[in-house]
Amino acid sequence: MRIAMIGTGYVGLVSGACLSEFGHEVTCVDKDAGKIDALKAGRIPIFEPGLEDVVATNVKAGRLSFSQDMEAAVPRADAVFIAVGTPSRRGDGHADLSYVFAAADEIARGLDGYTVVVTKSTVPVGTSRQVAEVIRKTRPEAEFDVASNPEFLREGSAIEDFRRPDRVVVGTESDRAKAVMKEVYRPLYLNETPLLFTSRETSELIKYAANAFLATKITFINEIADICEAVNADVQDVARAIGLDGRIGAKFLHAGPGFGGSCFPKDTLALLKTSQEVGAPTRIVDAVVQVNEARKAHMAEKIAEALGGVNGKHIAVLGLTFKPNTDDMRDAPSLSIIPALQDKGAKIRAYDPEGMEEARKLLEVQFCKSAYEALGGADAVVILTEWNEFRALDLKRVKALMKAPMMIDLRNIYRPAQMAEAGFHYVSVGRRSVAPKS
Ligand SMILES: NC(=O)c1ccc[n+]([C@@H]2O[C@H](COP(=O)([O-])OP(=O)(O)OC[C@H]3O[C@@H](n4cnc5c(N)ncnc54)[C@H](O)[C@@H]3O)[C@@H](O)[C@H]2O)c1
Repeated sequence: MRIAMIGTGYVGLVSGACLSEFGHEVTCVDKDAGKIDALKAGRIPIFEPGLEDVVATNVKAGRLSFSQDMEAAVPRADAVFIAVGTPSRRGDGHADLSYVFAAADEIARGLDGYTVVVTKSTVPVGTSRQVAEVIRKTRPEAEFDVASNPEFLREGSAIEDFRRPDRVVVGTESDRAKAVMKEVYRPLYLNETPLLFTSRETSELIKYAANAFLATKITFINEIADICEAVNADVQDVARAIGLDGRIGAKFLHAGPGFGGSCFPKDTLALLKTSQEVGAPTRIVDAVVQVNEARKAHMAEKIAEALGGVNGKHIAVLGLTFKPNTDDMRDAPSLSIIPALQDKGAKIRAYDPEGMEEARKLLEVQFCKSAYEALGGADAVVILTEWNEFRALDLKRVKALMKAPMMIDLRNIYRPAQMAEAGFHYVSVGRRSVAPKS
């Protein structure tokens, strides 16, 4: 089967590479010449564990190629996936669909023979129907169906998620398109991965419902963490105990600085807009968006309070990306918390294992080559992202490097008793703060 993947970002590149691993012949197309040139030269433009190997193996096997030229890839394809960005539209929070419709128009020009055009980008209900209208307008005689196939992979474990998804959702009512999509996902189908066929509208809504639910779970435990702090309870124990209840589940119950990233913030906002437009407003998602925004501001206050004010203080920030194992800085909590600290007069030295290249474009801080370099002379260290390399810092060395032994752990990766023993003032999220033992 021949596949064209339009948009070679976090989703398009992973999906394209993994589909070629399934045995399909895949061309990944992107209009960003820098990305395509890098990929042709064997360089991966993003950080995603395991991706480099999958790309190299399948390029070598002749199943995966890269191009800037949509018209070269589309006419040969049985299925054309749209995996371009759908960021929040400035000002109103709607999903910006201009990239999707521009891609649809370009695809239309290249269609040759029956083709399934697949919206893999996260798009509001009704978009796949609109994509079909765009194509029909440009090429009234073209033979095609538009199916919705939302992607659920997580950055940082994207390869594994694509290879072994919990489910694959396909929205189409066309039997011809269903047959093509079954063939696309045949290796997963054989592995008994649930393949759910729904209407296009249902499929589009499933993606938003999933992300809004997960964002709600995070926000819920964050509010429970605030209550824990007020009553001297421990949110880690609460999360573990409620998570063991099969009806609740343990995942997405980690209290922290608020959710960020390329999906949850924009997808909750877009669902909110849809719900208002169709006259079925969701008060829960509305509250989630507001609570999460307020939380990021609250985190800067929490840090300032722990330090008795931050004016003129040196703060070492460990972790800038919205989560570990990615270089993605989109809507990372660091982008709100650090400027808020700087507004209060703090001086920031920061380190992130993979995110600094991107962070340099977005933050004005002193970037350091290692965690230990960032810690030199600091009045406090703030852990903003739970990268593995921050989990086992040499605490004696950390203490010796810092001006004052104060750790503000917004990801709860250390234990209060351990930190008190190591001689730190330790502040975390939803657990009691401790003073050094000696
Ligand atoms: N990142 C994730 O973890 C994730 C997970 C699930 C779903 N999604 C959804 O997948 C979609 C893509 O997200 P992403 O993170 O991969 O975005 P991205 O910004 O990393 O990649 C999008 C790519 O599309 C390219 N592009 C835009 N218009 C194009 C055109 N007309 N022709 C060719 N290329 C074009 C851009 O140059 C860019 O490289 C979004 O709708 C997102 O919500 C993302």
